[in-house]
Amino acid sequence: MNHKAIIITGGAGFIGSHVVRLFVNKYPEYKVINVDKLTYAGNLANLKDIEEKPNYRFVKADICDFDAMLSLMQEEKVDGIIHLAAESHVDRSIKDPFTFARTNVMGTLSLLQAAKLYWESLPEKYEGKRFYHISTDEVYGALKMDGSLFTEETKYQPHSPYSAAKASSDHFVRAYHDTYGMPTIVTNCSNNYGPYQFPEKLIPLFINNIRHRKPLPVYGKGENVRDWLYVEDHARAIDIIFHKGKTAETYNIGGFNEWKNIDIVKLLIATVDRLLGRPEGADDDLITYVTDRAGHDLRYAIDSRKLQKELGWEPSLQFEEGIEKTVRWYLDNQDWMDNVTSGDYQRYYDDMYKGR
Ligand code: NAD
Ligand code: DAU
Repeated sequence: MNHKAIIITGGAGFIGSHVVRLFVNKYPEYKVINVDKLTYAGNLANLKDIEEKPNYRFVKADICDFDAMLSLMQEEKVDGIIHLAAESHVDRSIKDPFTFARTNVMGTLSLLQAAKLYWESLPEKYEGKRFYHISTDEVYGALKMDGSLFTEETKYQPHSPYSAAKASSDHFVRAYHDTYGMPTIVTNCSNNYGPYQFPEKLIPLFINNIRHRKPLPVYGKGENVRDWLYVEDHARAIDIIFHKGKTAETYNIGGFNEWKNIDIVKLLIATVDRLLGRPEGADDDLITYVTDRAGHDLRYAIDSRKLQKELGWEPSLQFEEGIEKTVRWYLDNQDWMDNVTSGDYQRYYDDMYKGR
């Protein structure tokens, strides 16, 4: 497939910025249009290194604005959409579910309907087009500690308002294929980590807190398990699937890399302390067990063999290596961290964590 103009939504966020960077650098012949509303999680500083490239355009817009989405698709003659824009933090969804339904469900629907109207107006219609929706493993619910994995056939059983909204958006995407014949793809990925992640999520929050010797709020007993993938490996998977994935298919993306939260916290403390030249064990007492997250899913673990077998993708980094790279990045980029934890960001962030 030789796409010429691609919209990437949510390109100023964590994963989106890595996807935009990869596409802008790897495909100079494409026009990459980053559509982002710049919520608290969107930050154009994530894309400083590519913002002047001739094949890149940034458009500040809300994906829920159907007219704006349709006009942009018509103006840029868009033939591919990689949809990442979303509200992405589970804790926020527990406090403010409406925003999650609006962006994740209605925003996805608005993009789908705009793409439908635009593509159906063309003589070639859906030929050579692709609507690729980025989703999460959280739609599958929670696993027991029994070695089972989420496959592409696992039934949806979301528990949080975030995962319920993502599940709903996945259903709409599949419905646009089944009802209108839109060439769609959905992928469900496990927890990402790496540079440019907003410090409300476990890994960047804890790296920053360890650096500043602030408490590390571990939910419950820290026994919950997540399957971690380095963000650039996710971006590579998205590139491969966008170009070679089969229409109407679902692919699970994950690193076969399960970790208990408490073990990650200990690894982060050891890594930060070593890199800052602090004595071993100096910050172990920062660990603070706090009230558990409501409806906290016990375990996520992805079976990504379909993607590995059919499209030849595999994760490139061992977790310890990825964590070392990630910790170094946050320690070397304190300006980035200070920027996103100050001012308006800081007010929202403080409200979120008040009382923990
Ligand atoms: P993020 O919160 O870092 O970034 C989201 C981006 O979307 C931000 O730039 C924000 O400004 C933008 N956005 C939000 N609402 C918008 C709207 N109404 N219109 C336009 N732009 C809007 O999120 P992330 O962690 O990079 O996740 C990106 C996508 O990947 C999401 O769809 C998420 O569900 C999915 N995902 C994330 C993970 C993970 O571990 N972070 C894992 C699997 C799947
Ligand atoms: O599985 C994919 C999902 O991973 C994505 O769809 C979400 O967008 C992304 O936010 C992430 O969700 P999690 O809820 O798993 O990520 P988070 O970093 O918020 O939390 C990871 C684990 O750490 C989880 O079990 C909760 C726990 N935690 C988190 C925070 C922020 C703590 O114990 N303390 C904390 O302060």
